[in-house]
Amino acid sequence: MSAHTAPEPSAPDRAPTPRRVRVHHLAEAKARGEKITMLTAYDAVTARLFDDAGIDVLLVGDSIGNTMHGHATTLPVTVDDMVPAARAVARAARRALVVVDLPFGSYEAGPEQALATGVRFLKETGVSAVKLEGGRRVVPQVRALTEAGIPVVGHLGYTPQSENALGGPRVQGRGDDAAERLSEDALAVAEAGAIAVVLEMVPVEVAARVTEILAVPTIGIGAGPQCDGQVLVWTDMAGMTDWSPRFARRYAELGQALQGAARAYADDVRAGAFPDDGHSFAQ
Ligand code: KIV
Repeated sequence: MSAHTAPEPSAPDRAPTPRRVRVHHLAEAKARGEKITMLTAYDAVTARLFDDAGIDVLLVGDSIGNTMHGHATTLPVTVDDMVPAARAVARAARRALVVVDLPFGSYEAGPEQALATGVRFLKETGVSAVKLEGGRRVVPQVRALTEAGIPVVGHLGYTPQSENALGGPRVQGRGDDAAERLSEDALAVAEAGAIAVVLEMVPVEVAARVTEILAVPTIGIGAGPQCDGQVLVWTDMAGMTDWSPRFARRYAELGQALQGAARAYADDVRAGAFPDDGHSFAQ
């Protein structure tokens, strides 16, 4: 998706205010064959950087549990954990569409629970859409949120909140029957009103077929190049940790760079080389 800018700068000394990515821009991008870019963000610092880099959609993912909160899975993440993160990202993003994950336990009970959680996020954080995991079983939730004016992104294939039932991170939709079930799930959530569907760890051919039959965009993560867009967890994309999943390309080694900076700082402090006169105040 190309970055659109408003014709007039918002103030003489500021960069032009970018035109906000809206829900309808996603379907328009698909129709034009323009790829949609999406990254996770969990705070204002990274949200601002990614927004200025022209990332179309920022996902306040429940992967915050693994990446930021030190959990082994996304299962312990609560709505109370997500609200401050979503608020920070929504505040920082000037252009990107901000989507927040409904965490495990905040929507499975039914449409009323999903609606209550979705309303809380929209009222308290400033995000524009929510994402939830599952196919036909969450159709009533997708419909209730959509009818209340809360845009919903679906999530199929490997769904981390079901990792116990799925036996860990494994490719989903292999074999004719599983591929057919996945396609039917995708059609069902799209018909219920989903504005896009994330496909995680799905064979290339299956993701391509789902992308072809859906009017709304597919966003792949480990689902091959034929999806309408791509999403990565930012810490994988930027090489913040020693290990990244096979489907994630590391575009930097920020973890090493950050650790190197911390070591250099500690060395300088211990050696009395920091602070020096240039970083101190005279009376
Ligand atoms: O929580 C998350 O980061 C996600 C992505 C893996 C799509 O759901």
